Amino acid sequence: MRFVPLDTPKPISKIGLGTWQFGSREWGYGPDYERRATGIVRRALDLGVTLFDTAEIYGFGRSERILGAALGAERATAVVATKIFPVLPVAPVVQQRAVASAARLGVAGIDLYQVHQPNPVVADTTTMRGMRALQDVGLVGEVGVSNYSLRRWRFAEAALGRRVLSNQVRYSMVDRGPEEDLIPYAEQAGRIVIAYSPLAQGFLSGRYDPSNPPGGAVRRANPYFLPENLARGTELIATLREVAAAHDATPSQIALAYLLRHPNVVAIPGASGVEQVERNAAAAEIDLADDEYAALRTAAHAFRPVTGLAAVPKLIRARTRR
Ligand SMILES: NC(=O)c1ccc[n+]([C@@H]2O[C@H](COP(=O)([O-])OP(=O)(O)OC[C@H]3O[C@@H](n4cnc5c(N)ncnc54)[C@H](OP(=O)(O)O)[C@@H]3O)[C@@H](O)[C@H]2O)c1
Repeated sequence: MRFVPLDTPKPISKIGLGTWQFGSREWGYGPDYERRATGIVRRALDLGVTLFDTAEIYGFGRSERILGAALGAERATAVVATKIFPVLPVAPVVQQRAVASAARLGVAGIDLYQVHQPNPVVADTTTMRGMRALQDVGLVGEVGVSNYSLRRWRFAEAALGRRVLSNQVRYSMVDRGPEEDLIPYAEQAGRIVIAYSPLAQGFLSGRYDPSNPPGGAVRRANPYFLPENLARGTELIATLREVAAAHDATPSQIALAYLLRHPNVVAIPGASGVEQVERNAAAAEIDLADDEYAALRTAAHAFRPVTGLAAVPKLIRARTRR
């Protein structure tokens, strides 16, 4: 395993584990998945994964409970990251919600407490006042944000008066926005970009095609899995396969290695089984050659999916057909 080159109380692995899937019906993994989730966490720990990401909203607390129980005694050495869903993130609410999350996780302290998304009305000044108080009493180690613009991330830092260690954002080969400003800022200021949906929810695994889309409500709502976009992705997947063959790896591993080239980026792929977590952890060791990186970049740029409003009627049609 490799780690982020930053001074943090506990080392942060370049590959973490995302746990939205735990206890969340909308991924469609069925009742048996809860048992498998424990195996996924235990195997991740064996492989040197230290960062475990959850949120109070995932399965309405179930993900936090499953993760905490699965970590067991390793809760003390793992970097446990959770998020407040900022419905009314004023200081007293932030404090009360952190206590509830810590109780569900079974931890004495939350290593990284993140604001799940920017609140359009409540300013970060009041949210960060709550975060600062949590840090002062030792219930929270580091503060993070999620889905923040660079401007708002920096504003949050000013409001906290300390570093806001990380910004968790959608970042994959097909969602490269963070490369513009968030990653350069993280590298210059000693911060971390946590890449969520780093496999574009499995789109980059090459496992799906127009005749075989994934199930589950989450991915039925994701335009990348429209038959048209799965067909448009053929070239990109072919390039991933080509590079993967040279490394005796899989397309997913190459898609992760592509992101991890940036020293201050960590990826938190979710996993539907133990074998995936093994492959994902191993991706941290893959070094892409410059020409491979360039080929992947070109292929990623050439992928032009139908997204946004144009995708909405197609998503509705695809849904009614299934
Ligand atoms: N902050 C936010 O707003 C936010 C939003 C979304 C997610 N997140 C966090 O980010 C985490 C990851 O994002 P995500 O779950 O949306 O997407 P993801 O990690 O890109 O995709 C996860 C899915 O990809 C497939 N997969 C994983 N490893 C694979 C492998 N080695 N080979 C082939 N397929 C593989 C699995 O699905 P199948 O096997 O079923 O294909 C798995 O459930 C979440 O769990 C959550 O913690 C945060």
